[in-house]
Amino acid sequence: MGLPQWADVGMYLQTVMLLLRAEGLHSCPQMAWSVHRRTVAEVLSPPDGLILFCGMSIGFEDVTVGYARTGRAPLDETVTFVED
Ligand SMILES: Cc1cc2nc3c(=O)[nH]c(=O)nc-3n(C[C@H](O)[C@H](O)[C@H](O)COP(=O)(O)O)c2cc1C
Repeated sequence: MGLPQWADVGMYLQTVMLLLRAEGLHSCPQMAWSVHRRTVAEVLSPPDGLILFCGMSIGFEDVTVGYARTGRAPLDETVTFVED
């Protein structure tokens, strides 16, 4: 399929992330892994024909570690609903 279908990958990732939350887990998708795909392939020996789109760290939040929490824009700032 074409370039627009990359959105499907994003939607799949988000679904996995939401399901992880339902299980009490947190996650952090990391596209930067794709830059190091050859090194990752040396470790994982993936079948031919696959690409490394991104990695995802999964685990339980360590509340003792401080970090900047980013906010989320309100829905009306990012989505336009058109009514006929
Ligand atoms: C598909 C995807 C790939 C990402 N790749 C990276 C990455 O390579 N490096 C990075 O620092 N953040 C990356 N991010 C952002 C972090 O996963 C995370 O969203 C960000 O640190 C903000 O954290 P928060 O979503 O909990 O607010 C990526 C996000 C998405 C959705």
